[in-house]
This record gives sequence, structure tokens and C-alpha cells, in this order.
Amino acid sequence: MEQWIGAVAVVTGASAGIGESIAIELVKKGLKVVGLARRIDRLNKLKEDLKNESGEFHPIKCDMTIEEDILAAFQWTRNNLSGVNLLVNNAGTLRNTSLTEGKTSDWKTVIDLNLLGLCIATREAVKIMTEKNIAGLIIHINSVAGHYPISSMASQINVYGATKYGVTNLAETLRLELAAKKSNIRVTSLSPGYVKTEILEAAGFGTMKGTDETFKDAPTLEPLDISNAILYLMSTPPSVNVTELTIRPTRETF
Ligand SMILES: NC(=O)c1ccc[n+]([C@@H]2O[C@H](COP(=O)([O-])OP(=O)(O)OC[C@H]3O[C@@H](n4cnc5c(N)ncnc54)[C@H](OP(=O)(O)O)[C@@H]3O)[C@@H](O)[C@H]2O)c1
Repeated sequence: MEQWIGAVAVVTGASAGIGESIAIELVKKGLKVVGLARRIDRLNKLKEDLKNESGEFHPIKCDMTIEEDILAAFQWTRNNLSGVNLLVNNAGTLRNTSLTEGKTSDWKTVIDLNLLGLCIATREAVKIMTEKNIAGLIIHINSVAGHYPISSMASQINVYGATKYGVTNLAETLRLELAAKKSNIRVTSLSPGYVKTEILEAAGFGTMKGTDETFKDAPTLEPLDISNAILYLMSTPPSVNVTELTIRPTRETF
């Protein structure tokens, strides 16, 4: 991991859950982490909490559904840091609604964030990596819902699964596009099962262990389990590209 000390990571959705945990572990490993999210107060608190660690945390307020915000965040990174060595496309959401009755605006929020925001961030990171001749690593936080329909949530998950199936395809298409360009940038799709975070509350499901039967007694991963997987991916040599990594809690039933 020594080669990552002082390297630059951009982590989207760094204010909560999986992204926050990834940012913390990367700063502890000595990376300079640019953390993007809308809730700047949370990012600023994280910066304060991490001030005695070996790396750095740079908070940037960024709505990943607004292209100008994403471009400004990467411009700041280009102007103030040495490049981008690692991009973790983590920001993602779902909405508790259905395909038969849901609002178009809810579907659009999920599609804009989970697909378009990820694509724009990826394009900007690849530009910087290529300009600076960095053999970088791009990790898309996907989901088991990007590989199988979650039947127990069928009436609530609407476009989320389609966006995550899209992420599965985007990771592989990006890998092939980079390989065709003889680029050494590596691409990984990391697909968690159920992780204990704020995602269901943010989606309008109530509390994580609340009313929804699917999740009431479901085993969960901790965000740290996913951060540790990121550290594993970073520990692999530049000649190794783990293209898909699926991590479930033991006894997951969907
Ligand atoms: N939790 C699970 O069970 C699970 C399972 C599989 C995959 N995943 C995936 O893991 C990723 C992280 O989810 P999580 O569980 O950690 O969720 P979370 O606790 O709800 O955190 C989501 C993060 O995304 C950010 N975000 C949401 N909308 C945003 C926007 N418009 N612009 C910028 N940032 C935005 C949030 O920050 P702000 O609100 O401050 O902007 C927050 O930092 C997602 O891609 C999710 O699909 C989660």
C-alpha cells in the first residue's frame, strides 16, 4: 500500500454510509481525499475529525446530478492537487416508489445520480489520469441489484435495479474502451449486498430496521467491510484488474 501514500482519491457521496467510511480509511492510509456530497456541514465535520490522520481530507459541496458542480469539483482537484489516482464512484440513491405509480421526477433523480453523475465523474477523472500519465484505479460502487432482480423489493425498487445493471455494463464498457486505447487505468465494479447505512431512510423507507419486512431481520454488512474491500483492490499490482467483486453478509436471503 506504500505506493498510495500521498496519492489523490476522489470519493463521491463521502458524507455518509459507505462513502464516508471509504474516505476515512483512505485518509488513514495517507491519501489526499477529495470528498464530494451536498451536505457540506457533514464533510467539514469529517475534515475536522480526520485532522490528525496521516492523509488529507478536502471537502467539496457537489450535487452529483448537476454537471457544473461535478466539473467544478474536478477543476478544483486539477488546480490544487497532483492529479487523480483513484476515483470511487459511490454516490447513489433509490426512491421508495413503484414502476406503475411512481413520479417521473423520482425516477429521474435516481437515473441522473446513479448513471449520469457516475459517467461525468468518470470522464473527468480519466481525462486527468490520461493527461498526467497516471495508471489510475476507478471503482464503481454497484450493488447485487445490478446483477439480479431483488424480488422481495420488486414493488419498491423501480428504476434502481436498472441503474445498477447499467453500472455493471458501464464498468465493463469502460474497461474495454480503455484497453482499446492501451490505457493502464483499471476499472472495478464492487457490488455489495445489504450494508447498514442511511440509504433506506434517504429513499423514504423509514428507519433501516423499520417497517419494511425485507430488511427487518436481514443480516447486514458494515460500511467498513466495503472500505476494507477497497483497500484490497488498491493492494493488487498494476497488472491485475479485479473487474467484479461481490460482497454479501453471510446468510443474505435475496
Ligand atoms: N446500503 C446498501 O445496502 C447498499 C447496497 C448495495 C449498494 N449500495 C450502494 O452504495 C452506494 C452508497 O450508498 P450508502 O448505502 O452508503 O447510502 P447513504 O448512506 O444514503 O449515502 C449516500 C451518499 O451519497 C450522497 N448523495 C446522495 N445524493 C447525492 C447527490 N445528488 N449528489 C452528491 N451526493 C449525493 C449522500 O450525500 P449528500 O446527501 O450529503 O449529498 C451520501 O454521502 C450507493 O451507490 C448505493 O447504491 C448500497
